[in-house]
Amino acid sequence: MSDISLEQTATLTIDGVTHNLPIVEGIEGDRAIDVRDLLRQTGYTVFDTGYKNSASCCSTITYLDGAKGVLRYRGYAIEDLASKCLFIEVAYLLLHNKLPNRVELENFRTLLESHALIHEDMVHFFDKFPPNASPMSILSVMVNSLHNFYPEMSADPLENIDMTASRLISKIRTIAAFSYKKSIGQPLVYPRNDLSYCGNFLNMMFHTPVRPYLVQPEVVAALNKLLILHADHEQNCSTSAVRLVGSAGGNLYSSISAGINALWGPLHGGANEAVILMLEAIHKDNNDYKKYIAKAKDKNDPFRLSGFGHRVYRTYDPRGTIIKDACDELLGILNVKDPLLAIALNLEEIVLNDPWFVSRNLYPNIDFYSGIIYRALGIPTNMFTVMFALGRLPGWIAQWKEMREDPETKIYRPRQIYIGSPARKFMPLAERS
Ligand code: SDX
Repeated sequence: MSDISLEQTATLTIDGVTHNLPIVEGIEGDRAIDVRDLLRQTGYTVFDTGYKNSASCCSTITYLDGAKGVLRYRGYAIEDLASKCLFIEVAYLLLHNKLPNRVELENFRTLLESHALIHEDMVHFFDKFPPNASPMSILSVMVNSLHNFYPEMSADPLENIDMTASRLISKIRTIAAFSYKKSIGQPLVYPRNDLSYCGNFLNMMFHTPVRPYLVQPEVVAALNKLLILHADHEQNCSTSAVRLVGSAGGNLYSSISAGINALWGPLHGGANEAVILMLEAIHKDNNDYKKYIAKAKDKNDPFRLSGFGHRVYRTYDPRGTIIKDACDELLGILNVKDPLLAIALNLEEIVLNDPWFVSRNLYPNIDFYSGIIYRALGIPTNMFTVMFALGRLPGWIAQWKEMREDPETKIYRPRQIYIGSPARKFMPLAERS
């Protein structure tokens, strides 16, 4: 990364010794105290559980302004990309730092089409999963297994990033759709080269031998928008997992599989599924909002309002705004009446007018309304986080590539503060009470 330190420094006085630490600044004015040499200089590490106060790298991919609710991929506003692009255009942008021209887009599209199939031996894996297997566990197993079937892609994935990325981005879509078909006992529907990236996915999910699936442009447009909104989000938990595994020299598939597993958690990508379960519980409880608001405020209750709050955004998540608007539009087009939408809107109204939540900057995030759209598209709740992974994949690959190409990259290996037992004399088994 180019030299980012400033003339300005931070002064730290420890044990009577004063240290001048460089200040680093990003192009949007985001600043950090550069502590990369702190341990050698002072013998001290910094203590920062959850890395709330730490920047793990420099990056050129995504910029967030948490105070203003700004999100840009490679400098382009999320509002423009979500309303004017195809998902594969944004995937190309994340990978190459430029929006593709017609020729580049067609070449990328052709690569995606030519890599849509998975090895037939992999198809048989689905026969061995139990019927109620989690689609997220299937996804991480299958992505990890791609290494065995396409080892050449692990050799030097950066050598031909378009080939590597298009294979993964295309195959993960097929794996996701196949896992759904298997879970409902329907015959697999193979990809078709005459359909778009999103149209192909919808067809693989919902076509059956007895009822052809009608690919509706409005539904394809909604899915493109959703995948774009999920495509990257700087150094979130799952992206950090992808970078961490990759920093050890691990292959791209194992890194992406780690990202899928990190995303699965209900505090992260699993929140979109948790939101629907929460809204259904409120619905079953005769819309007893008060009960759930009280649970969320109760320190002794582990319950959190899924879909609210964010480590970075201190205001409305800009992606949540876009999805909320898309909800109204799509449900109107499809003439879908979902009682959970009214519950979500009421819950948001209550939260945004409750000082307890406002004082903690708890606003709806990307996961609050996304499940309503997935339901309208016919996607089952247990596939929602898989949809998040499909969208996030280009971002994970771009971040992994950036980490690998950055000469500053070191293996991720944080330290700790030890609070366990002091040194103890060993006691043989015979002497232990
Ligand atoms: C994603 O990082 C990313 O960019 C992620 C993501 C991406 O695109 O990759 O944006 C995707 O993961 C979005 C977030 C989805 N998760 C949820 O919706 C789960 C519910 N939200 C939370 O659990 C929470 O808000 C987090 C995990 C998202 C953020 O947690 P932090 O930053 O560690 O904040 P915290 O837990 O320290 O909470 C601060 C305060 C606490 O209260 P006090 O101790 O100050 O009294 O806010 C409270 C928390 O109790 N709080 C909530 C809450 N979120 C925070 N209280 C009730 N409900 C919530 N949802």
